[in-house]
Amino acid sequence: MKSNMKKIDVVLGMQWGDEGKGKVVDVLTPGYEVVARFQGGPNAGHTLIFDDEKYILHTIPSGIFREGSVNVIGNGVVIDPVILAAEIAKLEAAGIEVRSKLRVSKRAHLILPTHRMLDAASEAAKGASKIGSTLKGIGPTYMDKTGRNGLRVGDIISPQFEARYEALKRKHEGLLSQYKGFSYDIAEYEKEWMAGIEVLRSLPLIESEIEVNRMLDGGVKMLAEGAQGSMLDVDFGTYPFVTSSSTLCAGVCTGLGVAPGRIGEVYGIFKAYCTRVGSGPFPTELFDADGQKMRDVGMEYGSTTGRPRRCGWLDMGALKYAVMMNGTTKLIMMKGDVLNEFPTLKVCVGYKVAGETIDYFPFETNEEITPIYKEFAGWNTDINGVRRYEDFPAEFKAYVEFIERETGVPVAIISVGPDREETIIR
Ligand code: GDP
Ligand code: IMO
Ligand code: MG
Repeated sequence: MKSNMKKIDVVLGMQWGDEGKGKVVDVLTPGYEVVARFQGGPNAGHTLIFDDEKYILHTIPSGIFREGSVNVIGNGVVIDPVILAAEIAKLEAAGIEVRSKLRVSKRAHLILPTHRMLDAASEAAKGASKIGSTLKGIGPTYMDKTGRNGLRVGDIISPQFEARYEALKRKHEGLLSQYKGFSYDIAEYEKEWMAGIEVLRSLPLIESEIEVNRMLDGGVKMLAEGAQGSMLDVDFGTYPFVTSSSTLCAGVCTGLGVAPGRIGEVYGIFKAYCTRVGSGPFPTELFDADGQKMRDVGMEYGSTTGRPRRCGWLDMGALKYAVMMNGTTKLIMMKGDVLNEFPTLKVCVGYKVAGETIDYFPFETNEEITPIYKEFAGWNTDINGVRRYEDFPAEFKAYVEFIERETGVPVAIISVGPDREETIIR
């Protein structure tokens, strides 16, 4: 490897998504020249708040607001051209330069209008056991990728593109006809999709694995931005209630084409409590006034779908599981401020499953699982204004230091509000 070679640092969600990845990437980007997305697609909604403005990104990396940055949409990402074009238009309308800062991998897969319909049909057919998908066509697109049927960004410059699109669409129509009673009309969306393909054609389409490695060889500082969270990983999440990509650090290697030895710092982001949107196991979920208080104070409504997020206490088993599989080197705790007015806090430190007591996140999450809690005194004070670790109340520090001891990983950054400024870097 080259002597001045840089490693790629990684930002990942450690829970079920919506941990605050957008904000953290935004806070960290002054230290990076390149930000790259490596998996997921417009199921993601990453919120950034600065200068009294709020932006939500779905496909574009959260480095886009920084002058001179390069933002790569990697091969592991799935792209809906309609959503990408709308995102670009919205940012440009807000006066943000996008095109000169964006690069798209030719190997990234395209979400077709019929992939969205297949997602909807599959969810409708599942009835009560539905995944709670964002209905962006994520599952069917990754199925076509691994099933070796997909269309990729690089294909749009081929003269055969239209024919290949029609062939895949016909295949999807055949599948959709199996869903009795499911009716759909993609005519309007298809027009927008073709217009989106034109926008895509106007962007720099690159062999991102070559450029990413070349930049790292040359000493360029690069950050990989995860989407979703570790507990939504297709292998290790609460399957089948997961997304269809590898959300873990390992996904950086396949989603950008970097070797494992090139992974640098791994920042693991978690909320001081837990949330999850969509269906599936959530051992520490609260159905009482405390859960509602978290939702109200934390404004826990989905950035992509607007759905109310399910809320509950911090799950240490799940967090330790995520730390183990990601090789997290630094933890980042978000939204402690949401717990300002809770007299007592609970953290799940183990589970009772089928009469047995265990201290790790189990396979049997679809069975009855009872969390074992450790209680903490709340800080009962407004911490939003705190800017130095020393100034936090003792109860808050005890909470943070417990997490550090349990995980063996330092909590390097603490966020106490949605704004860029409301951040403490230790
Ligand atoms: P992401 O998908 O991981 O980027 O997270 P989302 O943007 O979907 O959801 C996180 C939400 O929490 C956003 O509305 C952020 O503005 C907000 N947020 C981030 N950090 C903090 C924090 O420390 N305190 C509070 N109160 N809100 C935060
Ligand atoms: P960010 O990047 C939270 C959830 C969905 C559903 C499951 C599968 O903003 O953290 P999919 O559309 O991927 O087939 O949905 O995964 N999900 C997310 N939950 N944050 C996300 O992204 C999510 N992306 C998908 O709610 O339960
Ligand atoms: Mg989100």
